[in-house]
Amino acid sequence: MPSPVHLTDGRVSIVVGRAGGCAEIVYWGAALGVVDLDAMQRALRRPVTGGAIDSEAPASLVPEHGSGYPGRPGLAGHRSDGTGWAPRFTRVSATADTSHVAIVGRDEVAGLELETRVELEPTGLLRVGATVTNVGDSPYTLGHLELTVPLPAHAVDVITFHGRWCRELHPHRQTLLSGAVDVENRTGRTSHEHPPLVWAGEHGFGEQHADVWGIHLAWSGNAHLRLERLPDGRRAATAGELLGPGEIVLEPGAAYSTPPVLGAYSPAGLTDASRAYHRYVRALPAHRTRPRPVLVNTWEAVYFDHDPGRLRELADRAARVGAERFVLDDGWFAGRRDDTSSLGDWWVSADVHPDGLAPLIAHVRGLGMEFGLWVEPEMISPDSDLHRAHPDWVLQAPGYEPVLGRHQLVLDLTRHDAFTAVHDRLDRLLRDHEIAFLKWDMNRVHVAASDAAGRAATHAQTHAVYRLIDQLRDAHPGVEIESCASGGGRIDFGILERTERVWTSDCNDALERQTIQRWASTLIPAEVMGAHIGPPRSHTTGRTHSLSFRAATAFFGHLGLEWNLLDLDDAELARVAAIVALHRRHRDLLHTGDVLRIDRGDDGTIAHGVVAPDRSAAIVSLVRLTTSASLLPDPLRIPDLDQDRTYEIEDLPLGRGRWLVEPVRLTGRQLARHGLQPPAMNPESARLIHLHGEAAA
Ligand code: DGJ
Repeated sequence: MPSPVHLTDGRVSIVVGRAGGCAEIVYWGAALGVVDLDAMQRALRRPVTGGAIDSEAPASLVPEHGSGYPGRPGLAGHRSDGTGWAPRFTRVSATADTSHVAIVGRDEVAGLELETRVELEPTGLLRVGATVTNVGDSPYTLGHLELTVPLPAHAVDVITFHGRWCRELHPHRQTLLSGAVDVENRTGRTSHEHPPLVWAGEHGFGEQHADVWGIHLAWSGNAHLRLERLPDGRRAATAGELLGPGEIVLEPGAAYSTPPVLGAYSPAGLTDASRAYHRYVRALPAHRTRPRPVLVNTWEAVYFDHDPGRLRELADRAARVGAERFVLDDGWFAGRRDDTSSLGDWWVSADVHPDGLAPLIAHVRGLGMEFGLWVEPEMISPDSDLHRAHPDWVLQAPGYEPVLGRHQLVLDLTRHDAFTAVHDRLDRLLRDHEIAFLKWDMNRVHVAASDAAGRAATHAQTHAVYRLIDQLRDAHPGVEIESCASGGGRIDFGILERTERVWTSDCNDALERQTIQRWASTLIPAEVMGAHIGPPRSHTTGRTHSLSFRAATAFFGHLGLEWNLLDLDDAELARVAAIVALHRRHRDLLHTGDVLRIDRGDDGTIAHGVVAPDRSAAIVSLVRLTTSASLLPDPLRIPDLDQDRTYEIEDLPLGRGRWLVEPVRLTGRQLARHGLQPPAMNPESARLIHLHGEAAA
């Protein structure tokens, strides 16, 4: 393999060199065109200076403390006598083609082999991975294997995310001048608190301008990410699985592979960088291109109050407003009349459904809708037949009182018997019923999650969850799955390899949702984002919002209704039906277009939308979140349309409020430059416009 290697698709360049036995990303950013790589290396060579060791250790994919790297080492671990903790790899082999580089290195002293991989994805994403193999003759305890990607000196602004149940994906932006920012997730699922996504960019980067880099760990378990500026001035982003002590012990010959780390880059701001992640999701085999059926979910409509007659009436109403899928949420099985029992007992409750689920499913299907069902397969209630029969099937530290969460425990899927039991139950359910959709929930975090021998087991459990979903999908390829974890606690590209949709948040408050969805859209496209119109008064915040604001907020995503439609009168049902019809009319554009998030000033509004890939149409929403100092919102400048095309602009009416006094026709250039004046708007309201491009003159 020549070194370095230039991977490029005309938009992005990745220059990969060899650092000892490891790949090193020398450059990742805007396409360089034809480039003299020797000159580039000479230009970037860093002189040795005082205050440091005599040769600077490279920021390779797996930086080596053993070579003197001053930041966090990429590999941590040791043998039982404490040796092998600071390996240094020497190259054994290297392969490269136009899109990927793989280098194998060995450390004969530590008895380890390391393969590092760098790939330029067809979607424009950077994908990196590594595998460490124990080639020694004693067990090797792995502390971590994380991947480091250098960032340029001007990537000074960083965004990490924080959140909680009902408040996912809130950004935290700061300028990182020195030191490090760490993101640590120990919840055993992707988490509300510390999702594995960070952004870095040029100072002041925005939605439409400046260099931006994203780093995402495609993994649904524990994670560690770091953005760091080393004392020598170099900047790097690091990501990997967070392992418990002793969680991975490599026997001689055994190997550990990292989950993939996926990097998005754009020279033109955060919106364009997000689109690279969206292209990736849209290219996954699990991604369905058929229209996303509008659904009605029973959770906030009836909670655990499952009366078959009312459920049938709710289904009637769902069909009447134009829903295409009816999802029966928690409460349909065994003794599950509240959240204190029965997880693991996956058979239909004879009390609630004396004739089974078949009559309800037949009713739903007779109305022309698909049927979906809620399950929480990774859990076991202490008060369940499953637990009474198998009290040892719990993922907990032996010898300690288990810590309960929502009255439940985690089922130990690393055990073959427990895995088989839950697999067979779900398989039976899917064989016996016409189920098109599973809402796969996961409602408690891991606490000291340990296998039967007392060893940390979140890693093995996460792989077991993947295996369980994969096996069920193989056997039931028509069934779509939603990833839910108390709302948006499991949104990542590992789970999206095997699910079609995520439940973005348990918070259906439209005001809260605007922020949650906006930042979720930096990673995932709208069509995988479950977005429901809830009741007027939000169940999780107590706030009241108009139907038009709730509808405008849910409109762009995979639309659902989570509201007791039996409470609505004919006029309200007609309004809901009109909203559903409007969404169905436009969902092809909404769900195949390019996301658009538009920077605004300080007028209390945000703006977002979607643009057709060929720029023939767009839908844009202006949302007033708060009041502001000015009476009127600032004109909305809409970037990224076809500059020379004229667009016919009309209201998308979701309620009484209108934007336009009269129809307007403007070119893409005008819309980008002087924009369109919005009307006066109350806080917690939104307006939508549709832009239809006329054929070019
Ligand atoms: C948590 C989910 O996020 C909710 O939507 C609902 O399915 C409940 N679990 C049911 O227990």
